[in-house]
Amino acid sequence: MQPTLFIANWKMQKSVTQSVEFCSAHFESLKVLSADTAIDLVICPSFPALLILNEMLADTMVHIGAQHCSPHESGAYTGQVSAESLKEAGCTYSIVGHSEQRMYNGVTDQDVANAANHLCQNKIEPIICIGETKQEFENNTAFSVLEKQLDPVLSILKNTNQPITIAYEPVWAIGTGTVPENDYLTTVFKHISALLTKVHSGPWRIVYGGSVSEETIAAFKNIPALSGFLIGGASLDFKKFEKIVSLGK
Ligand code: 13P
Repeated sequence: MQPTLFIANWKMQKSVTQSVEFCSAHFESLKVLSADTAIDLVICPSFPALLILNEMLADTMVHIGAQHCSPHESGAYTGQVSAESLKEAGCTYSIVGHSEQRMYNGVTDQDVANAANHLCQNKIEPIICIGETKQEFENNTAFSVLEKQLDPVLSILKNTNQPITIAYEPVWAIGTGTVPENDYLTTVFKHISALLTKVHSGPWRIVYGGSVSEETIAAFKNIPALSGFLIGGASLDFKKFEKIVSLGK
């Protein structure tokens, strides 16, 4: 059986010092947790913490991931970080197209596709975030929104056989405590799976993100095609994160 993927997205919630403190305080537990063959554990701290966490956790099975990647390969793009640099910082995963990047930094579907392409070329698994807003959900346009978001990604990755992860994160579920109904998630996942099966030649997984917690995790069991979780707020506290992993694996 494929391991369940647990991705901690720390967003901009922990400074470098706090990230280091977390990993040093829970080093032994992280080592034990990540050695479990039933799970794949990924921690995504902010950029300046990537290298140091990668070094600190080298003796564990924890993977280090970035929260964003530039759509450009290299060049005069002040403030951006390339896939090549992420590789050198030890990343094996990178989130791309998070709704907060789309919303606050104007990241487009094509940017997400280009970034995912550079990541694949650098053998970093992209965690490609897609998801509809509350209004799109209420207007029943979620499927066309997801298709539009995925379209450039799937056409640019058509010829790669690199593994990719799609993170379905409905914007209305992020940080709200509200999660979609099981039936809804099952239908959405079926839809995304069909698109991926048709186009992507490499391995792929679909994870869910949005208000995953100790309280909500049980509801996600038995959803076909669900390979794991992208966790924001609840991943900041080790005890909560550990509980989610033990309940969700
Ligand atoms: P929360 O788990 O805090 O809802 O955040 C979800 C998220 O945005 C993860 O990328």
